[in-house]
Amino acid sequence: MDKLKIEGGHSLKGEIEISGAKNAALPILCACLLTQELLELENVPHLQDVETMLKILEHMGVGCFREKQKVSLNAAGLNNPYAAYQWVKTMRASILTLGPLLARYGEAKVSLPGGCAIGARPVDQHIKGLEAMGAEIHLEEGYIIARAKRLKGARIFTDMVTVTGTENLMMAAVLAEGETVIENAAREPEIVDLANLLIQMGAQINGAGTDIIRIEGVKTLHGARYAIMPDRIETGTYLCAAAITGGDVFLRRARNTILDIVLDKLLDAGCTIHLENAGIHLKAPPRLKAVSLRTAPYPAFPTDMQAQFMALNAVAEGVATIRETIFENRFMHAVELMRLGADIQIDGANATVHGVARLLGASVMATDLRASASLVIAALKAEGETTIERIYHLDRGYEQMEQKLSALGAQIKRVR
Ligand code: UD1
Repeated sequence: MDKLKIEGGHSLKGEIEISGAKNAALPILCACLLTQELLELENVPHLQDVETMLKILEHMGVGCFREKQKVSLNAAGLNNPYAAYQWVKTMRASILTLGPLLARYGEAKVSLPGGCAIGARPVDQHIKGLEAMGAEIHLEEGYIIARAKRLKGARIFTDMVTVTGTENLMMAAVLAEGETVIENAAREPEIVDLANLLIQMGAQINGAGTDIIRIEGVKTLHGARYAIMPDRIETGTYLCAAAITGGDVFLRRARNTILDIVLDKLLDAGCTIHLENAGIHLKAPPRLKAVSLRTAPYPAFPTDMQAQFMALNAVAEGVATIRETIFENRFMHAVELMRLGADIQIDGANATVHGVARLLGASVMATDLRASASLVIAALKAEGETTIERIYHLDRGYEQMEQKLSALGAQIKRVR
């Protein structure tokens, strides 16, 4: 298994480009299932999760063609509405095939994702919503077996705010008969990106980006050409990497309007930030100030940036409290950060981080995607060499991370 070796203590300086958003690309790839016509996507990041989704779609009979950042998809030959456990267990977002398959093909067999390292993560809200639209669903040998002649519009109120749940129901509703109203919908920018694509394909959607989304079903959708939005979590991660090293970086294509709270916290930590049309410029002080935070659905602080901010707080001046409200087991990076010398106390969903003057390189283990990113950030600051094992997690969600960090002056190499 590949490892990363990072020699800490080098300030990040320079310019890199932000890639297309993983969490927008995954639902948008699944939207190809909704039409017989060609979907041409641009700015699709090269990531393990994207490759997994393309394999799942190919198995279903979708023609997939990739050239660099462009992907063309044609689901005219869709003939196998089946997402096997072997894929779904590696990527929970595979569940995003369920809604579009039911809407256009009328049947689907998709593995239940089961738990993952950061928590139980059930999909009951996806199922409840599709049942409200008239789907017949039962669970058999770990699979969701779903059938529907034509889905019917319904009023759906989700018990909690769920991102992929909202996306699945939105994709199901665009081809349903009549109006669907999704209340308590997630408001993440990736949902707006998916809605914009669906509208371009001929869907009638109002309110994406608010907590009430109204969808008037249409009979068919057509093909489209669409460029995926830049990745706000990748942006936030490189901003943190620059901040912890006292760096000075410009992130091309970074979009500031979807990062408000993350930028606010970096300002509170003492960074100077300039927002430009072409991207975001950050200059960091020699030592950051501790910043407390609480994760919650968008537009509040994203759970996907919690681990990276724990790394910043580990060496900041002062004490920070971090409260995780989305996932029940999302502090696994804390014990690894402690191996580098961080002073962190965990009490259920709360962490208290006392900033220390220095971290020292050590061997650590990546446990999930964003936890891995926090270890990379801490390693860039730690004195000496840090070895990060199990970095396949990083490859799921960060395009060319070593190359991008090297371009900013980090001493980082992959050992195969
Ligand atoms: C998405 C993101 C992930 C991010 C998360 C929260 C993608 C591909 N992934 O994951 O990066 O960390 O949002 O911002 O976009 N829940 C239920 N029942 C359900 C659905 C969700 O109980 O049917 C719970 C989950 O266990 C979790 C919370 O609701 O505690 C939010 O989860 P959700 O928004 O669904 O996360 P994902 O869409 O899986």
